[in-house]
Amino acid sequence: MNAKKAIIGGTGVYDPKRLKDHQQHTIDTPYGNAVCTIGEYSGEPVVFLPRHGEGHHLAPHQIPYRANLYALRALGVTEIYATAAVGSVHKNLLPGSLVIVDQFLDFTKSRPLTFFEDGRPVTHVDMTDPFCGRLRKKLAKSAEEKELPVVYGGTYVCTEGPRFETPAEIRMFDRMGGDVVGMTAVPEVVLAKELGMCYASVAMVTNYCSGITGDVLTHQEVLDVMANNVHRIRDLFFHTLLA
Ligand code: HPA
Repeated sequence: MNAKKAIIGGTGVYDPKRLKDHQQHTIDTPYGNAVCTIGEYSGEPVVFLPRHGEGHHLAPHQIPYRANLYALRALGVTEIYATAAVGSVHKNLLPGSLVIVDQFLDFTKSRPLTFFEDGRPVTHVDMTDPFCGRLRKKLAKSAEEKELPVVYGGTYVCTEGPRFETPAEIRMFDRMGGDVVGMTAVPEVVLAKELGMCYASVAMVTNYCSGITGDVLTHQEVLDVMANNVHRIRDLFFHTLLA
């Protein structure tokens, strides 16, 4: 099976809906198993990989990022469209907003972060444009065609989780230039680049970050906002897959 395009589903995106004749596959890699679904959309095979696994049982630091990306590459994937639930650092970036992120700040701590170890000759990959500019433009064009408001560009701060951040951390991220905060884009985007795959992420703002409004933040709130808005990401992705 050869598939050029893949969707990585984050929090609240577990279902390969809209892919025809889809089947689950477990792919054995040197980094462990990756579980994905392959189906058809508009006559083309498309891979769907829910990064948190069935029933959201994998915390962000437990996701087998290397196995997932290795498996996608082995399937022939060259374009990855990822979703991400994020908190907003700014009062004027409202829950429900979609952001096509273009930069990241890495605050992860304990994850395997590269394929270049264990004796493999090291390549230092360029990170000038970490989220593929070509795919970002495609997504922006699709959003315009579908009349879906999106914020084009934004800096994704990746924290280790699974806890949410403290208000002091959020104030620091704001001063550093962060716009949205999530727990999974790193190392996913880095590993995709190491394997030469284009990777773009559409972040759905599910909440204000801790300390912005003073309200207590819950995982349920993140899931609820995602559930009410995920159809917009689906519309955007499936329209982009046709481009
Ligand atoms: N912080 C980190 N990750 C998240 C958040 C948040 O506020 N919301 C959704 N994912």
